[in-house]
Amino acid sequence: MKPEEKRFSLDLIDLTKKYGSPLFVYDTTIIQKQYERLMNAFSGVHVKLHYACKALSNLEVLKFIRTLGAGLDAVSIEEVSLGIRAGYQPDQICFTPSGVGFSELEEAVHKGVKINIDNLDMLELFAQKYPEYPVCIRINPHIMAGGNLKISVGHIDSKFGISIHQLPHLLKLVDHWNIPVEGIHMHTGSDILDTEVFLGAVEILLNAAKSFPNLKYIDLGSGFKVPYKEGDIETNIEQLGQTISTRMKAFYKEYGKEVDLIFEPGKFLVSEAGVLLTEVNTVKVSPSTLFAGVNTGFNHLIRPMFYNSYHHIENISNPSGNPRVYNVVGYLCETDTFAVNRRIAEIRVGDILSFRNAGAYCFTMASNYNSRLKPAEVLLHQGKDYLVRRRESFEDLVKLQKKTGLFD
Ligand code: LLP
Repeated sequence: MKPEEKRFSLDLIDLTKKYGSPLFVYDTTIIQKQYERLMNAFSGVHVKLHYACKALSNLEVLKFIRTLGAGLDAVSIEEVSLGIRAGYQPDQICFTPSGVGFSELEEAVHKGVKINIDNLDMLELFAQKYPEYPVCIRINPHIMAGGNLKISVGHIDSKFGISIHQLPHLLKLVDHWNIPVEGIHMHTGSDILDTEVFLGAVEILLNAAKSFPNLKYIDLGSGFKVPYKEGDIETNIEQLGQTISTRMKAFYKEYGKEVDLIFEPGKFLVSEAGVLLTEVNTVKVSPSTLFAGVNTGFNHLIRPMFYNSYHHIENISNPSGNPRVYNVVGYLCETDTFAVNRRIAEIRVGDILSFRNAGAYCFTMASNYNSRLKPAEVLLHQGKDYLVRRRESFEDLVKLQKKTGLFD
């Protein structure tokens, strides 16, 4: 793995001097490289990427990804609004909610975005109220391509999608209400470990697709696995692209026409493009453990605690220091362990530690727990740094609260 300092186009320590810490830094060069890699993996098919903006939703990042030619995958009406604010045309946005109320679908209709429905009752209600509005249908193929149950959503117990076993019922509804189905979709979860299983799900979806004669697109979701550490499993995107391209070309023949092939990458585009820079508050020795305590916690990066995820940590202030074995922990009032028994170049109070893969699902999953403030975000673009979110202030923390005057 390249040292963190070498992956980014500007000096990370200088950025912490300029903007303070903790600090999220994202590099557009890395996002663009991943975008092009994914697009180039396919040939002879009409591929479109809808960026899953839940991964990282800063408006400047959304705008940058729009300039690359992507559309947007939005899972809440607020994400739809962010996309529109970032300049996406409504028809470039696909709204793929789960478990939302009908009024949220109605708002999406008023905004004119594409709508992906994952529930038979909702589909029937929608068809009665908006008979002309084209829809996409989310199918759950019932496969388990990932390892972590929290982020695998294609299996039988998952709340997402309309079960493939309900296809006959779905077709009856479509026929009865004459529903204009323009797309068919699946997303089997994040961190696909086994592409063969994923390809099995593609077969299931393509088979189902043949029952819908007027499709404009088939959306295979995402879940491409990026590496978090040396030797980690990662999706061989070039190989997968080739296999899917061949399969799609055969499908075009079976189906009698060519339709768009959509993917909704989140992690693949932005995970490796981001780093979280933190400062060491304490170095503490207990009878069993050497702790390095940093000025962040699961309020800013919850993935290690929530999913047991590995985030590579480097001491970028002392890269050639003698490695020692640390538990890296946060500053919260709970166990907020980022890493256990990790060999890291000697850590001193005041050093800057970098956390890799902090582009996806870090800032967007951050909170104000312990009344801590959220960090600033900086975007690196063409050799320059831009502050794209200022650090929160104490006033930000209390500004939505209302005084009653009762207890003053
Ligand atoms: N499309 C849909 C409908 C999704 O629900 C998701 C992610 C994606 C696309 C993008 O998947 P990706 O390319 O990022 O794997 N917070 C978890 C990941 C949860 C993903 C939820 N849905 C994590 O930090 O690993």
